[in-house]
Amino acid sequence: MAIDINKVETIIGEHGKDENDLIQAMLAIQEEFHYLPPEALEKISEQLNVPKIRIYQVAAFYKVFSLEPRGKHIITVCKGTACHVRGSSMLVDQVDRVLKIGPGQTTEDLQFTLEEVNCLGCCAIGPVMTIDNKYYGNMSVSKVERVINKYVEKEVVADD
Ligand code: FES
Repeated sequence: MAIDINKVETIIGEHGKDENDLIQAMLAIQEEFHYLPPEALEKISEQLNVPKIRIYQVAAFYKVFSLEPRGKHIITVCKGTACHVRGSSMLVDQVDRVLKIGPGQTTEDLQFTLEEVNCLGCCAIGPVMTIDNKYYGNMSVSKVERVINKYVEKEVVADD
C-alpha cells in the first residue's frame, strides 16, 4: 500500500525536531496509519536524525507499535479458560466466516484485524469480544456479524 509521504513529513514535523521526540513522532504515525510503514520510519530517521536501528528497537520494544499493517478496527476475542469453556473459539470461527480473517490477520481493505488475548479481566461476562476497546460480553455466534456491522456502517457514514 502506497502512503502519502507528504502527509508523513507533515506529521513528523508537527510532533518532533530531534531524537527526544522519537516516540511522539512514532505514535503519531501509528495513529494515522495503524502501523509503522517502512517509508515513514525512513522519514523519521531523516527528519529527527535518528539511526534506523534505534527506531526499529523502539518499535520492537513497545507493544503499541506494529510493523505490520493493522486494521482500523481491532477485534479481540478472549481465549482465556472461562471464555474458552463458553465457546470463544466459535466466535473466532464466526469472525473468520464474516471477515475472512483468522487470528493475527487483517482484512485486505485494512478495516479489521483479529487478535486473540488471554484474559480480559471480566470472566463473569464471558465469552468476551472487544472491538476498539469496547467490550461485548455474553457473546454468541449469532451476535458476531451484527456487532461487526456496527463498525462497517460507521465507516460508510464517516465517508459520506
Ligand atoms: S477468561 Fe475471558 S475475560 Fe477472563
